[in-house]
Amino acid sequence: ERVAFTATNRWIFSLSRRCLSLFKLHNKRRTIINNINNQIQMTSETESKKPKAIISPSLLACDFANMQSESEKVLSFGADWLHLDVMDGHFVPNLSFGAPVIESLHKHFSETYFDVHLMVTNPRDYVEPMKKAGCDMFTFHIETCANIDEAIGLCESIKKGGMKVGVAMKPKTNAESIFALADENFVDMLLVMTVEPGFGGQKFNPDMMPKVKELREKYPAMDIQVDGGLSASMIGMASEAGANVIVAGSSVFGAKDVKGAIDVLRHAVDAA
Ligand code: DX5
Ligand code: ZN
Repeated sequence: ERVAFTATNRWIFSLSRRCLSLFKLHNKRRTIINNINNQIQMTSETESKKPKAIISPSLLACDFANMQSESEKVLSFGADWLHLDVMDGHFVPNLSFGAPVIESLHKHFSETYFDVHLMVTNPRDYVEPMKKAGCDMFTFHIETCANIDEAIGLCESIKKGGMKVGVAMKPKTNAESIFALADENFVDMLLVMTVEPGFGGQKFNPDMMPKVKELREKYPAMDIQVDGGLSASMIGMASEAGANVIVAGSSVFGAKDVKGAIDVLRHAVDAA
């Protein structure tokens, strides 16, 4: 009887050990499956957050005597935004146009997104006039702000005016200069200048790509704009680095095939 009892005990013991190891195996499998599912979810979340390509031709390269038809042309060939370069002859050694010209143009393109790049020493003075002119994105240069409080104050007044806030960096200005603004969501777009601001038709500076990359890694969902010398041959570098909002003046307005020039820029961003 005692022998039988021990045998039964042993049988129960081995059965429970087998059950335990089956249970452990099941748990292990479940953990692996959960990990894979999490990985898939994380990947699709990052992918869905990837900002889309936006092509913003710079009217600085258009025929100023025909701004309306020039704008119609690029928009009909697929441009998403119009990039308007405002220069005051002080922040940069050149003059372009200001709020009155933008306002006149906006009357013909009230549905179009006006992406205004202010290369001016006192961007604060332009908030009201630009709002009235129909500006959608107000991009100021961080170099014009004496300190972070001034920059935050400017961002807030732009937002209060119902416009989006862009912050631009000249080539010698480092990425850290805008961290405080971007970390606290004061800005909607970062503009990395790929030439010294002031003139169209300059050579794209590839040394700016590490800055774009650094910003893209830190702000995966942010619109990152590049401006200066962008063309079919340079777009690969900018899109690989993570830029998604592409300003192009001479390469679009100077192209024989304007649609082709816009498509090339867009495809490079989409493919990156
Ligand atoms: C330069 C302007 C650019 C310029 C770009 O100061 O901010 O927007 O028009 O023109 P391209 O593409 O010809 O360099
Ligand atoms: Zn510009």
